[in-house]
Amino acid sequence: MRVDIVTLLPGVFDKIFDESVLGSAIRNGLIEIVVHQLREYGDGRHRTVDDTPFGGGPGMVLKPAPLVACLRDVRRLGSSAPVIGLTPQGLPLDQTLVKELAGFERIILVCGRYEGFDERIVHEFDLQLSIGDYVLTGGEIAAMAVVDAVSRMIPGTVGSHESVEQDSFYEGLLDHPQYTRPAAWEGLKVPKVLQDGNHAHIEKFRHCRSLLTTAVSRPDVFAAANLSEKDREALQSLLLSEQKN
Ligand SMILES: C[S@@+](CC[C@H](N)C(=O)[O-])C[C@H]1O[C@@H](n2cnc3c(N)ncnc32)[C@H](O)[C@@H]1O
Repeated sequence: MRVDIVTLLPGVFDKIFDESVLGSAIRNGLIEIVVHQLREYGDGRHRTVDDTPFGGGPGMVLKPAPLVACLRDVRRLGSSAPVIGLTPQGLPLDQTLVKELAGFERIILVCGRYEGFDERIVHEFDLQLSIGDYVLTGGEIAAMAVVDAVSRMIPGTVGSHESVEQDSFYEGLLDHPQYTRPAAWEGLKVPKVLQDGNHAHIEKFRHCRSLLTTAVSRPDVFAAANLSEKDREALQSLLLSEQKN
């Protein structure tokens, strides 16, 4: 998969795309990232890309012409790709959207700055995406979040794809709690079932915990989850064990 990123701060991506899981995915050719400096398309000697807002008010607004010229060039550099503007007004990014984006051969991410994009740029976007109901100073961290989440969906990026499929949200629920050694620490014990080596019991325990954690921590996610027959049976067994105790 190829990701093009349009930004005024190309340097901020160096470290994140050089290290860890993403770094190896890039070195192994699973994902290609190409960062473009929007400033190169700015006006005049100072390569200006922003101006004051019509109607007054604080801050600066990204001018339409430099961004549109940049996008026209970037589009031509590879196969056709959706252009995604990162903005708090966008569709909230979730795992379903992440999986959809991972299905594209190429995507183009556009990072805003200042007070954001001139509204007349917006028609250039195939999709506007938000990473949450808060405001960042620029779209770069949002672009990193998109690239990180999407690249995990590409087989081979994360060592075991099974672990990705067991993560929170993949199947609509949160992950079950995780434990590691020591088995007892400061008076707190790891549930016995996880130490007994009975894989059927462990799977059932984790499944029930995943359902419970989701219901307690994120009732909104639980309400939206499309519970399977297996989920219902797990919940039923929890009710029964409650009655036995
Ligand atoms: C300071 S913000 C602009 C905020 C804008 N004036 C508003 O209130 O909606 C500058 C840029 O950061 C990026 N940004 C900020 N918050 C974001 C979010 N939650 N999701 C995605 N991008 C965001 C966008 O690219 C935006 O153009």
